[in-house]
Amino acid sequence: MPTVFLTGANRGIGLGFAKVYLDAGWRVIAAVRDPDAADDLKNLGIDYEDRLSIHQIDLADLSSIDALATELQGTPIDVLLGNAAKTDNPMDEFGSTNYDAWIDAFKVNCMGQMKMAEAFVEHVAASDHKKMFFLSSRIGAKPPAGLILFRSSKSALNQVVMQLSLILGPRGIAVACGHPGFVKSKSTLSMGVFEAEESAGYLKKIIDDLTVKTAGQFFDPDGSVLPIVTRQMNPQAFGAKAPDAWNEQAKKRDAKKE
Ligand SMILES: NC(=O)c1ccc[n+]([C@@H]2O[C@H](COP(=O)([O-])OP(=O)(O)OC[C@H]3O[C@@H](n4cnc5c(N)ncnc54)[C@H](OP(=O)(O)O)[C@@H]3O)[C@@H](O)[C@H]2O)c1
Repeated sequence: MPTVFLTGANRGIGLGFAKVYLDAGWRVIAAVRDPDAADDLKNLGIDYEDRLSIHQIDLADLSSIDALATELQGTPIDVLLGNAAKTDNPMDEFGSTNYDAWIDAFKVNCMGQMKMAEAFVEHVAASDHKKMFFLSSRIGAKPPAGLILFRSSKSALNQVVMQLSLILGPRGIAVACGHPGFVKSKSTLSMGVFEAEESAGYLKKIIDDLTVKTAGQFFDPDGSVLPIVTRQMNPQAFGAKAPDAWNEQAKKRDAKKE
């Protein structure tokens, strides 16, 4: 039986994912900030008690990610699904940017996702499917002006996802991200168009089809591909150096400091 590890499973699209994967016969390891308050998830579990387990994680507390990875040591994870995000960011207005809230958004939406990949990489490597998928947003990759805290945290996530796909591809782990559509949830203040479960169903199909060959991409819910970052046709243009040259030079610089 394949296993999905899912964050933010207590509501919104995360709860939709839990239902879709349970219906499909998967084991669901659901991570939430407050298990005591995860009533909808617990109610869902009544029908699937033996295949749903609920655990605590707070992506703003990176040590809680390590703690859960240790607790789940030896458990293969076929799909690591980074769904949770800080979506309740204050509205920004140029001239009065809330920098503390911006750090929080970056920590949860970008650094917390990277930490998940680092903490759970061996669980994923030990599985049959070997996949990681992160919920990004079209908002992170387009104008107009506004929502800079959330937008920039998701743009940064896209770069992290591309990096992870390059780093983990050689180990047979496929990493990608996707946009869920405009979905009815707390984050969209009831303005969404898709139901959470409907969106989760579309994204599950994309994850099912994901391979190392199609990794490193940013998918729309219909499976079409969006630019994840600007892929420059000539990465060495105007004298730019490849990462190896940077690493070599940085080692020399650090050796001089010692
Ligand atoms: N809905 C859309 O139209 C839409 C569009 C584009 C992208 N997305 C992306 O899709 C994903 C799910 O969105 P949604 O609409 O379902 O959002 P949501 O209703 O706001 O739910 C967010 C989830 O993330 C959890 N979370 C927030 N901060 C966390 C933290 N520090 N540690 C652990 N969990 C945390 C929340 O848990 P609590 O209940 O404890 O707060 C909740 O389960 C997000 O990544 C979002 O950016 C959604």
